[in-house]
Amino acid sequence: MTGNRCLGIVILAAAGALASGSTALGQAMKAPGLVQEGNYDPGNLGMQMQPAPQNADAGAVYAVGPWPTYMPRLADGEGRDLVQSFCGICHSTTYITMQPPLPSATWDVEVNKMIGTFGAPIPEASAQVIRTYLKRHYTPETRKE
Ligand code: HEC
Repeated sequence: MTGNRCLGIVILAAAGALASGSTALGQAMKAPGLVQEGNYDPGNLGMQMQPAPQNADAGAVYAVGPWPTYMPRLADGEGRDLVQSFCGICHSTTYITMQPPLPSATWDVEVNKMIGTFGAPIPEASAQVIRTYLKRHYTPETRKE
């Protein structure tokens, strides 16, 4: 009795496996572009263009030219360290040196914009030293280089 039931289960399981296998294959054969299971035709079947196969050229030589990596030195003076640490958080201090000499009022606006608009975390005491530094070295009257 127990033996018969076991045999029955085995036969049913085998039949199920066969049936599901043939169904899966049957469905797969209908998939567009399928040549045989797992292999698709590389051509355009009117559905979507496939990217051209990559043709790696082992002998190719790629080169890029030099690019500027220097950061112009900030003018010496009181506040320089603060400028370097606070104003260099988000961008290079080249942002300061690449400006034309700016009037004092414009530096005030710039520093306030960095703090107010862009959220530079600069304590007011340091911001004051930074404003003074920028005015002392980067206005039309004071800028030396
Ligand atoms: C919280 C990040 C942050 C900090 C800190 C910061 N900046 Fe900026 N800064 C910016 C962003 C963002 C821009 C705009 C970048 C862009 O347009 O490419 C910018 C642009 C500038 C410019 C170019 C002119 C302009 O207004 O767009 C200058 C000059 C400048 N910053 C100076 C400073 C100075 C001086 C300090 C220190 C007091 C400072 N930044 C600190 C984020 C910051």
